Amino acid sequence: MSEPFDAVDVIRAKRDGAPVPEDQLRWMVDAYTRGYVADAQMSAFTMAILLNGMSRDEIRVMTDAMIASGERMSFAGIGKRTTDKHSTGGVGDKITLPLAPLVATYGVAVPQLSGRGLGHTGGTLDKLESIPGWRAALTNDEMRAQLAGDVGAVICAAGTGLAPADKKLYALRDVTGTVEAIPLIASSIMSKKIAEGTESLVLDVKFGSGAFMKDESRARELAETMVALGSDSGVDTTALLTDMSTPLGRTVGNANEVRESVEVLAGGGPADVVELTVALAREMLRMAGVDADPSEALSDGRAMDTWRRMIRAQDGDPEAALPTPRETHVVTADRDGVVTRMDAFDVGIAAWRLGAGRARASDPVVHAAGIDLHAKPGDRVAAGDPLLTLNADDDARFARALDALAGAYDIGDTAPVPAPIVRARITA
Ligand code: URA
Repeated sequence: MSEPFDAVDVIRAKRDGAPVPEDQLRWMVDAYTRGYVADAQMSAFTMAILLNGMSRDEIRVMTDAMIASGERMSFAGIGKRTTDKHSTGGVGDKITLPLAPLVATYGVAVPQLSGRGLGHTGGTLDKLESIPGWRAALTNDEMRAQLAGDVGAVICAAGTGLAPADKKLYALRDVTGTVEAIPLIASSIMSKKIAEGTESLVLDVKFGSGAFMKDESRARELAETMVALGSDSGVDTTALLTDMSTPLGRTVGNANEVRESVEVLAGGGPADVVELTVALAREMLRMAGVDADPSEALSDGRAMDTWRRMIRAQDGDPEAALPTPRETHVVTADRDGVVTRMDAFDVGIAAWRLGAGRARASDPVVHAAGIDLHAKPGDRVAAGDPLLTLNADDDARFARALDALAGAYDIGDTAPVPAPIVRARITA
């Protein structure tokens, strides 16, 4: 088949700052997915995008072309409103685990297609796979049945049919230094969420050391771009800008994060995890037209009942013991004082080195590995008190994790001023 365009012309246009016409942009994405446009050409194009940006119209077309590369799911006919959440990724970010069953408790369907961790940020599926028997892969029919029935929430792996252009492009960006381009992040995330067929979406866009976006202004730009893309596609979209300079909660890893999520579902858990879970649930319920206070279903046990049904529906045993580490190492405070800083990135790297995360998509994770945080900013400690417990399956892992933690925290004399997790709310 003869091709209508030449990739070099499309690359030159973006390189020289000219607008890329819609038909050429659509062709570029399609021809790359088919293998006609080579990796070398697409990496030049994505680098030109990183350097010169994209107009809102170009981002919309790019997103649309990525959606068109695969299947489009629909939950029409299940008899419920649908709503979903996406987080741009952080350290200790277990929020999906309590959030999905919490929102489903109010009769709204939550089709939460999730990913695995890569690098220092954790993945929802890796955490849930610590639960004996739990299964991440569901067919579309199984998903629909779970959403329509008395569970109402699904957390599962995205099938290979959803936005295949993004899968190929993301792998290329990962090895060509082009992950950080806002138009590419926005089109990557939103193509998958729009193709998934949710009616509404809340975005948890994180900034700070443990996030993709280190500074708040770039996180805001990403949030605004994604909210516009969602709205242009008919998905009611809201974003919360949230602080990821300190790990969320008191656990970073897999099994330990499941334990903490269950504490939240039992009406307890760390205040920051509860605050963010409830803030995101409020947005999802509002967009689904439900007027309710989601904190009630955490305190009265209804969200926990939904969690148990959700885990059982995917062959997991919610009552089973979770994996425990073979080896532990405790880091203690070297002076009396108050913890003034606990750096999310350093703690994330340390947990990764302990085996909680993976370096390549095909690597296994160690479910019991990770870090328990005994003290966080604002907590008073005495010299010798435990600050962190490192968990691993092999004590040879501790040395490199401890290297990552060398400058991870400060203990001072004056407590830091407490700040809310949610810093801004962005709507269309
Ligand atoms: N997550 C995605 O799905 N895509 C990106 O580009 C970045 C984060």
